[in-house]
Amino acid sequence: MNSPHRIDALTPGTFKLDGEEVEFGPGDSILEAATRAGHYIPHLCWHPDFGAAGNCRICTVKVNGRTGASCTVQAASGQEVQSNTLELNEQRKTMLQMLFVEGNHFCPSCEKSGNCGLQATAYAMGMQGPHFEELYPNRPVDATHPEMMLDLNRCILCGLCVRASEQADKKSVFAIGGHGIKTHLLVNSESGQLGDSEFSASDRAAHVCPTGVILHKRQGFATPIGQRRFDVKPISEQVEESKT
Ligand code: SF4
Ligand code: FES
Repeated sequence: MNSPHRIDALTPGTFKLDGEEVEFGPGDSILEAATRAGHYIPHLCWHPDFGAAGNCRICTVKVNGRTGASCTVQAASGQEVQSNTLELNEQRKTMLQMLFVEGNHFCPSCEKSGNCGLQATAYAMGMQGPHFEELYPNRPVDATHPEMMLDLNRCILCGLCVRASEQADKKSVFAIGGHGIKTHLLVNSESGQLGDSEFSASDRAAHVCPTGVILHKRQGFATPIGQRRFDVKPISEQVEESKT
């Protein structure tokens, strides 16, 4: 017999997000339903086409007083969800600062600046500096592919490229390997280099990276800095657009 919670999760209904009523459909997560309704819950590793991985924890909210990643908690009728609070936004800012110091993110010289989900989310959370000591890890750049390149200095290990390559492209070009601070992105080819893999510039995985790791060669400055997606409007006001 189904539990009452399970019945709720499979039935459409409404929950409250920061005091506002949000409709959800059967099986929706809180983040899915909120995004569809145009509400911004900060997130980095979730994309509606590739399911939830619960990696980044930026989407953490309070549901009836208990914390959970809104991309993995199923919406249910009567939930009271808090997201846009000082406490949660401060926690998000701290997690973002940790992501910044774990990699090498030099926004002023990065060709993804203005189109970067990490940078835009940091702005939305009011981050003004790294706060923690920078680790400056030694990470490679792979330019072996004729059309694409990888700058692993900017990888936040969100796993979106791994899921897109597996689920949409049916290729499994990427994987995440290693442990702890040595966790890193791997390319699935004999040499471990992108030029040796089945990767193509038309793959979904070539278009999902929220930061400036997976880059299309010779296109970096096609749109001038100052006119890019998040230069024009903050990420918190592009909730519907961010679904595509
Ligand atoms: Fe995420 Fe980009 Fe790193 Fe892939 S390369 S794990 S999409 S940050
Ligand atoms: Fe939910 Fe990353 S978006 S954990």
